[in-house]
Amino acid sequence: MKTIKDAKFIRQAADFGEIRPVFKKVIWLDKPVRKATLFCSALGYYEAYLNNQRVGKFIFAPGWTTYGKRLQYQEYNVTNLLEECNTLDIALGNGMRFHGNPHENYESITSREDALIAALVIEYEDGTEDFIPTDETWKCSKSNIVYSHVYNGETVDFTMNTDEEFPVKELPDINMDILIETEGEEVREMTRLNAIELIKTPKGETVIDFGQNLTGYVEWNVPAKKGKEFKLYHAEILDKDGNFYTENLRGAKAQVSVISDGVERAYKPHFSFQGFRYIKLEGFENEDINLENFTAVVVFSDMKRIGYFACGNDLVQQLYENIVWGLRGNFLDVPTDCPQRDERLGWTGDAQVFARTASTTYRTDKFFRKWLHDLAADQRENGAITDVCPDLQRWESYGSSAWADASVIVPYQVYAAYGDKTIIEEQFESMKKWIDFMENNGTEKGLFDAHEHHFGDWLSLDAGNEATGGLTDKNLIGSAYLAYSNALFIKMGKAIGKDMSYYEDLYEHSIKAYRKKFLNTGKTEHETQTSNVLALHFNLTDNREREAEKLVKDIEACGHLKTGFVGTPYLLHTLTEIGRADLAYKLLLRKEFPSWLFPVTRGSTTMWERWDGMKEDGSFATPEMNSFNHYAYGSVGDWLYKTVAGIDYDINEPGYKHIIFRPLPCKALGYAKARIITDNGDIISGWEYTGKGNECKFTFTIPNGCHATLYLDNEEYEFESGTYDTVFEYEGI
Ligand code: BGC
Repeated sequence: MKTIKDAKFIRQAADFGEIRPVFKKVIWLDKPVRKATLFCSALGYYEAYLNNQRVGKFIFAPGWTTYGKRLQYQEYNVTNLLEECNTLDIALGNGMRFHGNPHENYESITSREDALIAALVIEYEDGTEDFIPTDETWKCSKSNIVYSHVYNGETVDFTMNTDEEFPVKELPDINMDILIETEGEEVREMTRLNAIELIKTPKGETVIDFGQNLTGYVEWNVPAKKGKEFKLYHAEILDKDGNFYTENLRGAKAQVSVISDGVERAYKPHFSFQGFRYIKLEGFENEDINLENFTAVVVFSDMKRIGYFACGNDLVQQLYENIVWGLRGNFLDVPTDCPQRDERLGWTGDAQVFARTASTTYRTDKFFRKWLHDLAADQRENGAITDVCPDLQRWESYGSSAWADASVIVPYQVYAAYGDKTIIEEQFESMKKWIDFMENNGTEKGLFDAHEHHFGDWLSLDAGNEATGGLTDKNLIGSAYLAYSNALFIKMGKAIGKDMSYYEDLYEHSIKAYRKKFLNTGKTEHETQTSNVLALHFNLTDNREREAEKLVKDIEACGHLKTGFVGTPYLLHTLTEIGRADLAYKLLLRKEFPSWLFPVTRGSTTMWERWDGMKEDGSFATPEMNSFNHYAYGSVGDWLYKTVAGIDYDINEPGYKHIIFRPLPCKALGYAKARIITDNGDIISGWEYTGKGNECKFTFTIPNGCHATLYLDNEEYEFESGTYDTVFEYEGI
């Protein structure tokens, strides 16, 4: 049977400049059809229309992968769209290939011209079949999209004549082996938000507020004014004077511009998305502006929502909503750092720190599986994992600890959340190569302290607000992660029956060497909150009291956290583990800078990249590195599920076959509750102070086929499946 690999990659034979092409094929049918299937892919983004009907719902198809090695194609059942005479139109956008800073000498598919490949397979009722592949018999015309760029936006001219047809040419030199079936989740239009307010800023700008920082685009009605240009600019935030602020988008123009042909029509961008809460309008007269004509379309990977959290503190609740919106804004086919500035890349470290919160909130296995396959495909010969994946920029640097460890930690979290061992089998070699890379880059066995490139405790506060790498010794972080990732690797390897004795031995070496080099040195000048957290949470120290005391002392002395991307995800867990959940709650509930709630008190609706994104005086941190939609610090969501509500997994019975309930009620919250939907059913854990002294009502639900252990007040209780209510005298925090 013929497949899409028998089609040809095609592109327009003429030079269209920036104008986006539409490829066309007319197909006549003369006998009854049983089934018709369209296979389609592109170097770039495509949108297919059969008889003017959009085929499928995948936005930004064919999805973003390591194109040079893996390019997804889609398969659509189009039987119901067929007529006697059919027109297949497929528009082509730039996609992610040209963005960022492609390495100058990097000759590959990631930086070459865009192209389309498709095949329509028609099966007739009489048993015969037609195979209609893209080839030189197709035609091409100019679309009215005269400019399109993922970061910069789109320009559309409805007055343009798009009737003229041009020939296409085949691109014979593309290796068809790169074409793979779709592995990831489709990006789709998931929600729509109405405009909530029309604002005239002090500078006189006309701005619309959608009330939520989000990722997607605006659908709006282009007024019927022939030849007139209407412009939309996007921004995440207004500055302290209330003016439209776009400096933090860096090079991304985030601008949509449409020239009307005199017909009122709905328009939304095709091949571009923005991260925004506000839009600024230009070219509109007052009579053109009706809030009802502007809708924000929220797009992200179509995963199933499985996790919910609620509590009695409005600010913490808003923090949780911000975490969920941070996920929605950055799970767009690839887990990205941010959706707004000229970056939007699959930063490995960010994905690593957020993987557990994400996998508890949405069903991420399919989404991450595809990305992990790309991570392995991008992995260097020497085992190093790239800083971003897909590695379209071919960065010079690679192998940063905590970033590259995504190759081990993400599969671990997916395995823990859903219990599917195939992810371990698929990633085993890649994980092994990364552990080996670390082992090969140490001054002695067990340390990862001889590699040049590490990001460190990114954006931590201990080296001053504007420094990025923090104070924590990067070789200490590297060596701590070697021990930690290897420990997870050993657990996963054993789960699929591998002999892990070599790595167990390496682990022993790591612990010994780490203690000698970083802990029992008598030197404390570079001890940081993060170094204490790693020693405790990764079980590296033989003197827990000392590390705990140091950590607590430092937090109590300044009253706040100073941790960055490395320390923050573990900070509250660590405080809980050392018996200081009270201090963890203090940090969680702190409203002043720096804290998780400070942005909430400033009206944030997503997670900020940095603690001081907006400063206390309302001014902003450097526009070079100041995203208001970065999920990394949203990793505190772990603690909300695991400790506040109290639902934890047991890695020995993953996928919540054995549930660990360890709630830690806090009077300041009043109540908390979480629900996690698993393959076996719903898990619920909740508690509520009844208002009568210390009386606290607990509720637990354990799905069929699962069992649970509850830890409460130093007691341990075993439960089979069912729903349980109990009232305890519980002082809590
Ligand atoms: C990204 C981060 C990323 C970092 C590397 C930034 O530009 O936005 O989130 O992890 O670079 O340190």
